[in-house]
Amino acid sequence: MEIVIESRAGLCPLICKPGEKILFAGLRAGLTLPYDCATGTCGQCKARVRSGEVETIWPEAPAFAKLQPDKGDVLMCQTRAVSDCVVRVQANVKICETGPRPRYGSGRLRGLERLTSDVMHFELVLNEPMRFHAGQFVVLTAPGIDGARAYSMLNHAPEVGTLELVIKKKVGGGLSEWFFEADRADTELEVFGPLGRATFRPDEDRDLLCIAGGSGIAGILSIIEHASSSGHFQAHKGRVFFGVRTLSDAFYLDRFSRLVAKSEGALDVVLAVSHEEVATPQHPQFSAIQIAHGFVHDVANQRLETDCSSLTSFVAGPPPMVDGAIRVLIGHGVPPTQIRYDKFG
Ligand code: FES
Repeated sequence: MEIVIESRAGLCPLICKPGEKILFAGLRAGLTLPYDCATGTCGQCKARVRSGEVETIWPEAPAFAKLQPDKGDVLMCQTRAVSDCVVRVQANVKICETGPRPRYGSGRLRGLERLTSDVMHFELVLNEPMRFHAGQFVVLTAPGIDGARAYSMLNHAPEVGTLELVIKKKVGGGLSEWFFEADRADTELEVFGPLGRATFRPDEDRDLLCIAGGSGIAGILSIIEHASSSGHFQAHKGRVFFGVRTLSDAFYLDRFSRLVAKSEGALDVVLAVSHEEVATPQHPQFSAIQIAHGFVHDVANQRLETDCSSLTSFVAGPPPMVDGAIRVLIGHGVPPTQIRYDKFG
């Protein structure tokens, strides 16, 4: 199927495989199509079909509420072409010459480990190694489960054969319930990625500030691990605010403790606990972690200095938390161009 993307920058033709989402075909071809979540939540991939026939993959996608379907609006991440099409996108769409292009692959599940009552660590041993930037994510599809879901990598290396990921159990979340209802070790999943532009580059000459809620901490851990291994904390400071409801909902504190110790004073990690008042427990995994009471963006708001204009910030978590954190960052003078986030629903 041939698709022509019409944008302010001109026309970009591309070929869609049978049944392929228009967004994925475009990103695979290296086009700078607009998107955030890649899974039907954010509405950033909105486009208008000018000619040709398309079909919708997931009509209940939350972002459909933002469309005018009678005018031909579609979500490119939830649409496949049935004939050759012309699709109009309100952006400057060009070919991106830098960075790894997403592609299709597969991987076998290994290393499944419950971290809390509703959070599980897992690994995906890929059929082919993947290159990605710290902060990027992949979209996974499991056999027999409708729809795809996005998960951020928490490890980082220039090229990896195994992705480390984390999943939170959600009621009614098809893929998350599938993970928790039986032992899924050795199951093969389909992978598309890497995706996401909320990435860290060690050549950026700025201090880092990260605010995350729940499983959104995965991409932040990847960024902090990359900053640590690339020597960024020899010349720069880093601060992480990690929000959970109760102390027993916290995870990866041992990994953060090691990173704090290695940074020799350059990295601070604050665990913001919103639903209980707690003192710091006497346990090695808390040795380098500060504990505060409150919602994570409120805790960040109280502890940040007035002028944070020299920082680069990363935000990850549920959409209301991301919105609250962005308001805090803007209030503290972080330039909007230095606030990077992915909103997963
Ligand atoms: Fe399509 Fe988010 S990228 S709705």
